[in-house]
Amino acid sequence: MGIIYEEERGIWKLDTPHTSYIIGIADKQYIGHIYYGARIRDCGGCSWMRTGEAPFVPSENMRDKCSFMDSFPAEYPGNGVGDFRESAVSVRDEAGNTAVQPLYTGYRIYAGKPSIPGLPATFGGEDVCETLELSARDEVLGLAFTLVYTVFSDVDVITRSVRITNEGEKPIALTKVMTMSLDMDAEDYRMLTLHGSWARERRMEYREIGYGKQSAGSVRGESSHQEHPFLALAERGATQERGTVYGFHFVYSGNFLAQVEKSQFDSLRVQLGIHPQEFCWKLEQGQTFYAPEAVQTCTREGLGGMSRTLHDLYRKHLIRSPYRNKKRPILINNWEATYFDFDTEKLLAIAREAKRCGIEMLVMDDGWFGRRNDDNTSLGDWQVNEEKLPGGLKRLADEVNKIGLKFGIWFEPEMISPDSELYRSHPDWAIALPGRKPCRARNQYVLDLSRPEVTEYVYEAVASVLRSADIAYVKWDMNRQLTDLGSAFLEKDRQGELMHRYVLAVYALQERLLAEFPELLLENCSGGGARFDPGMLYYSPQIWCSDDTDAIERLAIQEGTALLYPLSAIGAHVSDCPNHTVGRITPFATRGHVALAGTFGYELDITAIGEEERKMIPEQVALYHRYNDLVREGDYYRIASYRENHSYDCYAVVAKDRSEALVTYVQVLNRANCRSRRIRIPGLAPEKRYRIEGQEAVYYGDTLQNAGIFAPLFRGDFQSALIYIREV
Ligand code: DGJ
Repeated sequence: MGIIYEEERGIWKLDTPHTSYIIGIADKQYIGHIYYGARIRDCGGCSWMRTGEAPFVPSENMRDKCSFMDSFPAEYPGNGVGDFRESAVSVRDEAGNTAVQPLYTGYRIYAGKPSIPGLPATFGGEDVCETLELSARDEVLGLAFTLVYTVFSDVDVITRSVRITNEGEKPIALTKVMTMSLDMDAEDYRMLTLHGSWARERRMEYREIGYGKQSAGSVRGESSHQEHPFLALAERGATQERGTVYGFHFVYSGNFLAQVEKSQFDSLRVQLGIHPQEFCWKLEQGQTFYAPEAVQTCTREGLGGMSRTLHDLYRKHLIRSPYRNKKRPILINNWEATYFDFDTEKLLAIAREAKRCGIEMLVMDDGWFGRRNDDNTSLGDWQVNEEKLPGGLKRLADEVNKIGLKFGIWFEPEMISPDSELYRSHPDWAIALPGRKPCRARNQYVLDLSRPEVTEYVYEAVASVLRSADIAYVKWDMNRQLTDLGSAFLEKDRQGELMHRYVLAVYALQERLLAEFPELLLENCSGGGARFDPGMLYYSPQIWCSDDTDAIERLAIQEGTALLYPLSAIGAHVSDCPNHTVGRITPFATRGHVALAGTFGYELDITAIGEEERKMIPEQVALYHRYNDLVREGDYYRIASYRENHSYDCYAVVAKDRSEALVTYVQVLNRANCRSRRIRIPGLAPEKRYRIEGQEAVYYGDTLQNAGIFAPLFRGDFQSALIYIREV
């Protein structure tokens, strides 16, 4: 299978279908990196390993051990003993020292892939995965390390994780645990990251890589709107379809650091892991710390190659929901329709009209519980507001079901309003620092989920609502970031564990919920898309992408999101105009076309929109039913980016068997007196013959790929078209 061990030279070669990753041992103890790139036949040798030129290894020249350590391409660099670059791990031992050095002790290769206790991770059976575990140890501390590498035989991905066990006699505080570190030569790469803000999530940005460190990160307790747990190194000039790209993605939903460091010797050290700021984990004797998983991929097929690899990985080996390969019910959500101002009658009126238009599920958003008529109150009081919903949830859900729709509901389980019964009875359940009034954000606090009775309360609050009525869907929201990091529950030397324990608790809550309600369609959300990450995808097959539902703003947001995530995961709805976030007016058809590149649904008052628009809904519903299998399961190709050209956007989804393709073209701004644009359609089979729907002519795939077609010419801005191509 994918992992070869050459005993004589102590070398491991990890192969995916098109890549090889080679690790070796220098001086019998230092685990070093040899190669990562296109697949090669040779196993290589330590002569390839950059052991710091002369004086090679410490056994030959102890005099200059430091120059060895500071240039050695370590797989998992320790701290404070000669390597001045960023370490992967750091500690504070009982004596107050921070040094740590994992040295090789053994290895194990086996079929399959281990799960990581309490954490989301990709999975794969013994037929597709093989795992290498390298053991290392710091004898002085009694700290044992296991570096875990899994290769997949059906995608060009290697996953990495680390576990650290305290085999010594005294507790040790881990002050930094990166999941992966990779030392490679600095060639002509640029660093690609995703940045953003609320309503402007996941914008692509390239940076030059200078000497020293450059990074993306979050210390907000969530993966965040602002930066994304991802980085790529892209060869200069790499396009969508050509050029070497290395991608690194973190399967985690909390604080992260993604960093590249360029050294004096022109090497790059790429690292991904939990952000060390605010992190300190006390490891008692015999205890093990599990670092979350990192995904790494390498392709010569440009950014598009990386995207398609990650889409396949996540669809096949991360999303577990029974909905993963199924059409999701087309939903209508009442948030932008009513905000907090609704009652049973209003919701039922929406449901009736939605049913007439072919919509399949009604989702009741924020405002159904406690006294929540605005966002200042009641989070934590998960009892239905009978003034709004007389007869309760069961009555509402039953009525919605009678109309012929499924029923879904919104929660924000991790939060507590200062104005709530819950806070009045348990003020110490909020995260807060002794003596300081915690920061309010959206007038709310965050529950201390490190506390078992709090998570128990949260679980029962959500589960008892789900038990009380026929609820097919939950939108799990999280509308503020973590500040004032103090837990009234954790001991003083464990306060640094709060952020990670919080994330572990969110995972445990969702795991438990899915165990009790295995058919539930869960959609994660965080003030729009602040927790759109692979960690959440393990629990929910779809994630709300952004609170900005404007079709034009969504082009860049969905482009950045689709760089890493399959379209089936991207929560996208048609909303009303003028758009509530940017005030823009776009054609209803364009809003539909853009939302089709996601889960598809509606977020408007269907009883109040114009008749012409309402009449278009059944047509859009039909498009969804016609194209969703293709959009959900196909290969994604980015053809042009409005973000770059400021004029138009274009992408295609091609069926895995190359039998059909759907191209979405959006003319954002019209131009005067210009020729029509040529669109080249990638991904088709060159020798197959295709017809473009609505046209007579038949073309070979290579014609459509190379000569292309002309884009439709529209009058006006924000116009769009779907171009459907089928093999004849
Ligand atoms: C933020 C979400 O992104 C919105 O869709 C909506 O659910 C609001 N929260 C409700 O408070």
